[in-house]
Amino acid sequence: MSSTQPPPEIPSANPIDPVEHDYFTLNPAPASLQKHTSLARDFITTHASAGRRVVLVTSGGTTVPLERQTVRFIDNFSAGTRGATSAEYFLEAGYAVIFLYREFSLLPYSRHYSHATNCFLDFLHEGPNGSVLAREEYTEKMLAVLRKYQAAKRDNLLLTIPFVTINDYLFILRSIAQLMRPLGPSGLLYLAAAVSDFFVPNERMVEHKIQSTDASPNIRPQGAEDRQDQGQQDDEAFDNFDSSPLIPRSKRLVIDLDPVPKFLKNLVDGWAPEGMIVSFKLETDPEILVSKARYSLERYQHHLVIGNLLVTRKWEVVFVARSEEGEGIREEWIRVPRRRKTLSKIDIEVDREGGREDGGEKGKERPLD
Ligand code: PMT
Repeated sequence: MSSTQPPPEIPSANPIDPVEHDYFTLNPAPASLQKHTSLARDFITTHASAGRRVVLVTSGGTTVPLERQTVRFIDNFSAGTRGATSAEYFLEAGYAVIFLYREFSLLPYSRHYSHATNCFLDFLHEGPNGSVLAREEYTEKMLAVLRKYQAAKRDNLLLTIPFVTINDYLFILRSIAQLMRPLGPSGLLYLAAAVSDFFVPNERMVEHKIQSTDASPNIRPQGAEDRQDQGQQDDEAFDNFDSSPLIPRSKRLVIDLDPVPKFLKNLVDGWAPEGMIVSFKLETDPEILVSKARYSLERYQHHLVIGNLLVTRKWEVVFVARSEEGEGIREEWIRVPRRRKTLSKIDIEVDREGGREDGGEKGKERPLD
């Protein structure tokens, strides 16, 4: 999806922010940006004029390429379950959904089958006269899912837009958020994608596959050539931050990543300032989850942070928002029973009343696990 073409001129709602300006000037826009922006514009216009609420759901993990002609990249764990499942419930709640997702991650509706433990073909069997049918034990559920999927398609309620890299994601996120700005609070941005925190900036990215015999020179920062003599000496040297000093630098891949700017701030302040913005906070350490989610809400001043822990994310989340009385920040844990293969599962993404009705537990306690 990425290309090296120069970025198109997109007016920034916050043109004086130098970090935003630099990022979107120095890194190339994806080749598909104009096509996807145009699809999103038509979709938003259609649904806004029908008085329908529109939600942008981001989903899945962004990649960080190490080479322009990408052989190797850094990825993360996200399968897109949160985003794809949430998209289904937004559709059920009457929203038109723009689903910005990592290519080949889970999609609304097909998620029930595409990445299931069974191979997709295990759901089928051969019928009479060379036909293909769903196996009887799956038919009821498959029919229900199929009907919902077809209704969403028929009414043009679901627009899917893929991304692969962090750069693809940021360019299209900015474009769509800016398109949603006129919707005001009836435009919801629900940012469930797992967004990379570090990347290789375009000016430091090598064109070709990093060679294993010459790893460090390929990914040295620009200007490193000037220090080639020194570099050659270093190659056989063992610098004092080496963790395995028996291996010379020339044989190692030393990756130098820059922080990805936190564009959530630009999104809230400039791209869609009147929109309803829900971000997610992922942590692995239960001790810091709530404080990090609170910090995020205070820092970015948006509407809701949904905190989750990597290992319990399918069963419990914490909502962190300003209290309705405007007195400080409150947090609320939402839980559903932990899934067992033999029990019917309840998606934690179901609307909260539904979650509780089906056994979801509401409380302010710490995570159970
Ligand atoms: O897909 P699943 O397997 O179902 O997993 C779902 C999930 C755990 C990925 C999801 O529930 C989730 O937590 N998504 C957010 C993950 C994430 O990026 O967390 P973070 O703590 O790194 O970032 C917090 C927020 O800052 C996010 O809203 C992100 O959009 C934003 N961010 C992050 C990095 C960055 N450079 N700029 C940002 O604005």
